[in-house]
Amino acid sequence: MYAFSNAVNSMHSEDVKQLMKQASGKNLISFAGGMPNNHLFPVEQIDEIYNSLPETVKKLCFQYGPTSGYPPLVKSLEDYLENKGVVVGDNKILVTTGSLQAISIITQEFVNEGDIILTENPCFVGALTVFETFGAEIHSIPIDKHGIDIEALKSKIESLERKPKFLYVTPNYHNPAGIIYSPERKKELLEALSGTGIILLEDDAYSDLYFNEDEKHLTKAMKSFGVKDVEIIYTGSFSKILGPGFRLGFMLSSEEIFEKAETVKQALDACTSNFMQILGNEFLVQNKLEPYLKFLRSEYQERRDLLQKHLKTHMPKEITWNEPKGGFYVWLKLPPNISSTDIFNESVTKGVVFVTGRTFDPASKKDDRLRLSFSNMPKDQIEKGVIILSEAIKEVLQNSKVVLS
Ligand SMILES: Cc1ncc(COP(=O)(O)O)c(C=O)c1O
Repeated sequence: MYAFSNAVNSMHSEDVKQLMKQASGKNLISFAGGMPNNHLFPVEQIDEIYNSLPETVKKLCFQYGPTSGYPPLVKSLEDYLENKGVVVGDNKILVTTGSLQAISIITQEFVNEGDIILTENPCFVGALTVFETFGAEIHSIPIDKHGIDIEALKSKIESLERKPKFLYVTPNYHNPAGIIYSPERKKELLEALSGTGIILLEDDAYSDLYFNEDEKHLTKAMKSFGVKDVEIIYTGSFSKILGPGFRLGFMLSSEEIFEKAETVKQALDACTSNFMQILGNEFLVQNKLEPYLKFLRSEYQERRDLLQKHLKTHMPKEITWNEPKGGFYVWLKLPPNISSTDIFNESVTKGVVFVTGRTFDPASKKDDRLRLSFSNMPKDQIEKGVIILSEAIKEVLQNSKVVLS
């Protein structure tokens, strides 16, 4: 517990710093940032909530609170999770400062330098940065359009001489791949982990952002599958819905894991901002979340549709991609031997940025993909962005002597 690599060394942390800069770069059309839309935040609702708080609660906003979380928010989160079909039961909730803090706490709790963590490939780069910073040895397993490759996972587990501390996955509207695990794949994953003693870290930052009500059931968390012999730690976040400025996340785990996590959190920041917890709690108890989510889903779906339409019109045939059913991301596939870093270098000079594929590879090598985020895109810039990007891609393909069809 409390491991920390002396030589803090994260290959991906520079990528993340770059990413944050590019995401907000002026005069650039940015498909880069995995952030919610600047113009969709619930500013009025939050104004209303704060202004109508009793004076005593306003004062509480400025105060420290319990490390585990503001008790009314913990209760509201229980209801929120039960509504999503996640039975809290004997599990405990720890409110965290964003779900990245939950990932970091769990890593500190379980991982000493040199310990093994399993991840998907590609993998959310923020989590990679955490795992690297704490000196973990990362082994990654490929995913396909239905989820993690089960055979590859099994043979990886068999081939390792030491037991991995946990497997980290983002099954719903994956960052960066945009996929959602099929129910079968979720079940197979739990079967594959059964009896191995490997903890499953289920990161569920995007499941509220499905575009089609009929597909809501597909977002069902593995934590709610009722499997007894796999220890699952579930993390959630309000960053992609209320806004990352809230820095409001949480983890749901067994009591034993919760208690150690609470101790780690105590040493990190004592408690998550009471201000944000109180505002977040009021948003939930005043039933403002569901109508707001409805609005967000249709806004993001509209951007997804526009991006799909313009990609179809302008991209050369050699480029393929998925159609995400929720979340923020489209994951473009390039022809063999074309690197997304080369395309990035061309595209940034023309004024469009995105995130290169290698950013999400734990080994920082695999570069045959690129991530387009449509979430923070003004609708009227999507086509222009796609045209510029497709020109950059065509140039790189031509220079690489790929015959364009
Ligand atoms: C898959 C995934 N998990 C977790 C997070 C972290 O979110 P938070 O702002 O709650 O720390 C992100 C943010 O990009 C994400 O994409």
